[in-house]
Amino acid sequence: MTISHSWRLLRLLAVSAVLVLTAQIFVCRIALRKRPREASHPLPEDVHRILAPETYEYIINQPDMCKERSPFLVFMVPVSPAEAEAREAVRKTWGAPNPNTLTLFYTGLPKGPGVGLFQQKMEEESKVHADIIQMNFQDSYQNLTIKTMMMMNWLATYCPSASYAMKVDADIFVNIFYLVNLLKSAPEQGFITGSVITDGAPRRDRNSKWFLSEELYPEDSFPWYVSGAGYVFSSDLAAKISWGSRFVQMIPLEDVYVGLCLRVVGIKPVYSRSLLTFRNLFEIRNLKYDRCTFARRVIVNQFKPSELVRIWQDFSSGHDNC
Ligand SMILES: *[C@@H]1O[C@H](CO)[C@@H](O)[C@H](O)[C@H]1NC(C)=O
Repeated sequence: MTISHSWRLLRLLAVSAVLVLTAQIFVCRIALRKRPREASHPLPEDVHRILAPETYEYIINQPDMCKERSPFLVFMVPVSPAEAEAREAVRKTWGAPNPNTLTLFYTGLPKGPGVGLFQQKMEEESKVHADIIQMNFQDSYQNLTIKTMMMMNWLATYCPSASYAMKVDADIFVNIFYLVNLLKSAPEQGFITGSVITDGAPRRDRNSKWFLSEELYPEDSFPWYVSGAGYVFSSDLAAKISWGSRFVQMIPLEDVYVGLCLRVVGIKPVYSRSLLTFRNLFEIRNLKYDRCTFARRVIVNQFKPSELVRIWQDFSSGHDNC
């Protein structure tokens, strides 16, 4: 080998070394940027406290609901204490007693004028129906994240034998016939479905209802999450989401928050689409009632209690003919 040959070889080696190094730094940077901030270590105790289940106490509980049965599907419905009419509508419609399903309402403490009266009425209602669970945090829109984590913790503690659970608002139409069928062929673990939001991002406009400050959430996008109106999951996820929440600072957007907990435990929500048309089965637009249109959805958004009851009468008797 001549001197000029070895010189060239040396140069080649040097250039490749620099290239490899640059590539590595680049990859590292990407990894650092993508790494969820919260996944590295648990939150300090005083920060986690506001969401920790040990912080609050049950005022009303139904601890024996799953002692003698393992429901196929538990409906977990967040409500405010004053929403007695909405609870009644759910009990008369998709939430009615059924061998496959169990329906429970979750609430915090009433606030404002008439607190004592609301509390007394709700306790009477609870004696009649035995389907209300109440914890001693202030019930409010901003505290929905606390309520959601309370529901997860309740399921993991008192009903781990359930197959599936659905977090669903009281103003939603739920097609239990379609849903139960869909779940019969769903994964038994690590499964969550609903209307998946893949391009969510924090609103930095202070006037927005969904405003989120950079202190609370510094990243500029959200991980995939399921819209909070109604989502369904295998019951093992209740404990996993509760565990994940030790790593995630509370934000007042409960559905995004659940998405952040799912990211910690490495679970991605899946979209539910109809086979041929690819239509979203979890409808988050408002749709005018039509029996056969509703027969092809799992949920439809936003109904007043009286509308829900009226629609259900027609739907439950006629959906088979669609
Ligand atoms: C949320 O609940 C906590 C605990 O009861 C309370 O201290 C706080 O004021 C509530 N926040 C809102 C915005 O209601």
